[in-house]
Amino acid sequence: MQPGDPVKIEMAPFQGITNLVFREVFTCHFTGVNKLLTPFFTSIHKQNLSTSRSKELLHVSEHGIPVVPQILSKDADEMLRFAGFCQQLGFDEINWNMGCPYPRVARKGRGSGMLPHPDKVEEILSQIMPELPLKLSVKLRLGYENPDEILNLIPVFNHFPLEELAIHARVGKQLYKGSANFTAFERAMQQSTIPVGYNGDIFTKKDYLKVNDLFPKLSFVMLGRGLLADPFLPATIKQQPVPELAEQKQLIRRFVDDLYFERRKQHRDGLQTLGNMKEYWWYLSFSFSNPHKVFSRVKKVKSFNDYEDAVNSLFSDFEWVGHQANLFKKEKNK
Ligand SMILES: Cc1cc2nc3c(=O)[nH]c(=O)nc-3n(C[C@H](O)[C@H](O)[C@H](O)COP(=O)(O)O)c2cc1C
Repeated sequence: MQPGDPVKIEMAPFQGITNLVFREVFTCHFTGVNKLLTPFFTSIHKQNLSTSRSKELLHVSEHGIPVVPQILSKDADEMLRFAGFCQQLGFDEINWNMGCPYPRVARKGRGSGMLPHPDKVEEILSQIMPELPLKLSVKLRLGYENPDEILNLIPVFNHFPLEELAIHARVGKQLYKGSANFTAFERAMQQSTIPVGYNGDIFTKKDYLKVNDLFPKLSFVMLGRGLLADPFLPATIKQQPVPELAEQKQLIRRFVDDLYFERRKQHRDGLQTLGNMKEYWWYLSFSFSNPHKVFSRVKKVKSFNDYEDAVNSLFSDFEWVGHQANLFKKEKNK
């Protein structure tokens, strides 16, 4: 992005966290995001999704921000079924997950396991693109074993009218370890005629500025853990007005409370709300003065009363320090 151009920011998908309730509540409280990807859908065996899964796709946008359903698949027919279903619901783009690093997914040639197989990717795209009723974007890594794998894929992508590529600058085998590979990302970006976005380890505004400096031609950035830890990060990057830390803390409190009560509604007061909230608190705790203590208070709760007491106490005992403290990065580099 050139100086003065508005930065486009996409929210990265997180299975188990960024579901419909999260997207809805997040966009109610925070600004700065331009696109919301859903966590991946898989095993689309029938023409229709089950009720519980289709409920996740009830909103094609949240507060005017488009939602893009994601599919994890290596089957052209399944992808077309999913696309048809999403089109009926009113979506105008779907995203293909070629980034999932987990061995049980990758071993079956799905997610990042698809990256070493450009022929297979070409076969699928040739089958689906002529019939696809909506736009297709791809979220991928640089490769599964080797960051050069992407160099055989980009020429394949270039043959098709894809909407955009969001590239997480790691290989699948790394999972989330080690650092992002800027050199390999740059090579891939230079080869691509499709708009490219950067994903990986943007935890602070400084991280964003570095990425933007290195790759001024980026079409967008995708924020994951950095945004979960500090929901004010997108607005900060965009230089939108962001309140002082003390006020941020109050707004974060309102946000997590809304999220908690909406999740309780979603699960009809089922205890899986606690599991969901714990998963989210693992990220959010990194923007408090003592992440480990904050998380350990939430981690051990077993009832709604325990949870509410833990949240009350941690908000009174710990400071909200936001992303400036860079605690996430410190943890990652331990
Ligand atoms: C728990 C967890 C769940 C994830 N779920 C998905 C998913 O459903 N689809 C996807 O494309 N990426 C998924 N990701 C990857 C993130 O979207 C993102 O690409 C990754 O965290 C790197 O970006 P970051 O460094 O900004 O966090 C997941 C990551 C984690 C840690």
